[in-house]
Amino acid sequence: MSDMTSGSARIDTSKRTWLIASSCAGVAGGVATAIPFVSTFQPSEKAKAAGAAVEVDIGGLKVGEKITVEWRGKPVWILKRTPEQVAELAKLDGQLADPLSKRHPDEFTPKYAQNGHRSIKPDVLVVVGICTHLGCSPIDRFQAGPQPSLPNDWEGGFLCPCHGSTFDLAGRVFKNKPAPDNLPVPPHMYLSETKLLIGEDSKKA
Ligand code: FES
Repeated sequence: MSDMTSGSARIDTSKRTWLIASSCAGVAGGVATAIPFVSTFQPSEKAKAAGAAVEVDIGGLKVGEKITVEWRGKPVWILKRTPEQVAELAKLDGQLADPLSKRHPDEFTPKYAQNGHRSIKPDVLVVVGICTHLGCSPIDRFQAGPQPSLPNDWEGGFLCPCHGSTFDLAGRVFKNKPAPDNLPVPPHMYLSETKLLIGEDSKKA
């Protein structure tokens, strides 16, 4: 698995959540203190700050890769999962706090992602990469199997370094962790087979 990223993150005082995310990651040590963002077609800085939608071409995204784009000052992850990883998701339901994303569905999971894979296309996950506990940025732990800070039957997912919350490859939080909710799925839609629009889901394609 690889993390395909480029560009640079911007941090300013108006983005409190992002500041928290960066500082938590720093405390954890060995974790990137700033998540780089992919450069895409972008609206002006002013429009972005106001929440303009961001268009992303994921035509080059390979199976197993994750890219990060910025939307409203937040990191949005786009992960292309393998068919095996998608198939494993249903087996985890019993270990998850909210496997069907029923809690706060309007806030965390739009209708089109209220399914077993939490996505429009089964293989492509789109989530905001900010922990729902105190706003740290979880780190990729895509490799299955035993490893530090994770259970022996780990199937791959994300680990929040701040207080140990774990999320599966659909961004669903495991039971008995500090994070109260799954990672949020932002509003999004496909403009074509490979073009994603992050931040809007009602525009005519
Ligand atoms: S901020 Fe993620 S577990 Fe506390």
